[in-house]
Amino acid sequence: MENLFQWRLFPLLTLLVSFMVFFYVQSHPKLSEIRCSLLPYQHYWIASKRIVTPQGIISGAGMFSDGKIASVVKEDEKRESFKLGHVIDYGEAVVMPGLIDVHTHLDDPGKAEWEGFPSGTKAAAAGGITTLVDMPLNSFPSTVSRKTLELKIKSAEERIYVDVGFWGGLVPENAFDRSALEDLLNAGVLGLKSFMCPSGINDFPMTNTTHIKEGLSVLAKYRRPLLVHAEIQQHDHLGLQEVVDDARSYSTYLKTRPTSWEEAAISELVTLTKDTRVGGSASGAHLHIVHLSDSTSSLDLIKEAKSLGDSVTVETCPHYLAFSADEIGDGDTRFKCAPPIRDAGNKEKLWEALLEGHIDMLSSDHSPTIPQLKLLDDGDFLKAWGGISSLQFVLPVTWSYGKKYGVSLEQLALWWSERPAKLAGQESKGRIAIGNLADIVVWEPEVEFNLDDDHPVYLKHPSISAYMGRKLYGKVSATFVRGNLVYQEGNHASAACGVTILAK
Ligand SMILES: *[C@@H]1O[C@H](CO)[C@@H](O)[C@H](O)[C@H]1NC(C)=O
Ligand SMILES: [Zn+2]
Repeated sequence: MENLFQWRLFPLLTLLVSFMVFFYVQSHPKLSEIRCSLLPYQHYWIASKRIVTPQGIISGAGMFSDGKIASVVKEDEKRESFKLGHVIDYGEAVVMPGLIDVHTHLDDPGKAEWEGFPSGTKAAAAGGITTLVDMPLNSFPSTVSRKTLELKIKSAEERIYVDVGFWGGLVPENAFDRSALEDLLNAGVLGLKSFMCPSGINDFPMTNTTHIKEGLSVLAKYRRPLLVHAEIQQHDHLGLQEVVDDARSYSTYLKTRPTSWEEAAISELVTLTKDTRVGGSASGAHLHIVHLSDSTSSLDLIKEAKSLGDSVTVETCPHYLAFSADEIGDGDTRFKCAPPIRDAGNKEKLWEALLEGHIDMLSSDHSPTIPQLKLLDDGDFLKAWGGISSLQFVLPVTWSYGKKYGVSLEQLALWWSERPAKLAGQESKGRIAIGNLADIVVWEPEVEFNLDDDHPVYLKHPSISAYMGRKLYGKVSATFVRGNLVYQEGNHASAACGVTILAK
């Protein structure tokens, strides 16, 4: 009898406790906010001797209030202002706008074993990246329609530690279907991406110039960009036998994708970007060339198009700036990517173009996979999956390898934050300015570290990263997303409170 009574009472008690918890959480919204941040404050100051603002580097402080930058004051104005709240003093550490990576493959949903939203965005946070834009391929299905975008958004919900936007795919199937493309754009992709060579992904076929022209005409109305992988397969490379003989040699792979592939693609693209000029038939559209590797004729074509008023920008990636072909060891397929890493002279010219402003911005093109597909044991460059894993390291890498070129903190902010924000249509990000979102990285440029097995790496597969084993400068200490301290000194906020960014 007694047992029966308890057994009946149990569900009732559970219900009662649930109600109490529910009402407690409802009346204490701070509880959920605290889980989004390692700090318990909604309004506070962060102070530093080196804050990188669009007006230069200042010693002072910024006030964050409800996720936005409410105030920025210089050293001499600090004392008065500080009466208003809690202050975190980062001393000599650099306070910079959070990085915005416009080219990331997080492979989620469908191939989350390659990376996935949780590990990818934790690695981003640990690397000072506060926003990333996910590529439409390498996940499954590819993001080529409203329905597939909705799957992405659903997969990202409550699983992202930084903000994430999405590019949609321009493929032959939707290129001639204006209403399908408009549906995808209306659903919120920040722009479109297409390939001029096989992408390696079955449900992401390549586009030709007719498709791209169609895409640009739709994008003009939305004022969103088209990102293009600019390589067209040429049939001027090695005979098959020679290739097969020496597949472990990086130079073999390099010869299979010569600069003429990039040049062929870009020379076709610049015939289309004419239409993006003011008054042109695709005025309002913008073409962005992703991961440029060729610093010779391809770059000259881009420079010329820009000088004529075409709406075109170009990015390159840290791996083209850090490495050169002659340094890549036999069988070290961690370095395989497309277009390939070229010779040391090419690298020098890429730096020059970046410093002179001909290359507009940087992106990671973080493109991981499972270690098995990298074929690290065989070391076959021709068969291994292409893509460089880098997301967490792009800030220290750019800084470390840029040192000898005299790269400044302001340039880093321009290449990694301000210009990418503009490309992605995120005007409230990318700069430390009043009214902008409080997306911030705090880092110590002078601190040196070894990227060895003891270093905390949040990527799903650290072993495939081309940067493992390197010595780098620039330690990320803290990362704020919308005023939430999402990462500090090896700790992440417990809840994944990143926001999916959709274009309106
Ligand atoms: C591109 O491919 C489409 C078929 O999808 C074809 O109709 C068109 O003529 C092609 N354009 C060029 C320039 O080859
Ligand atoms: Zn890519």
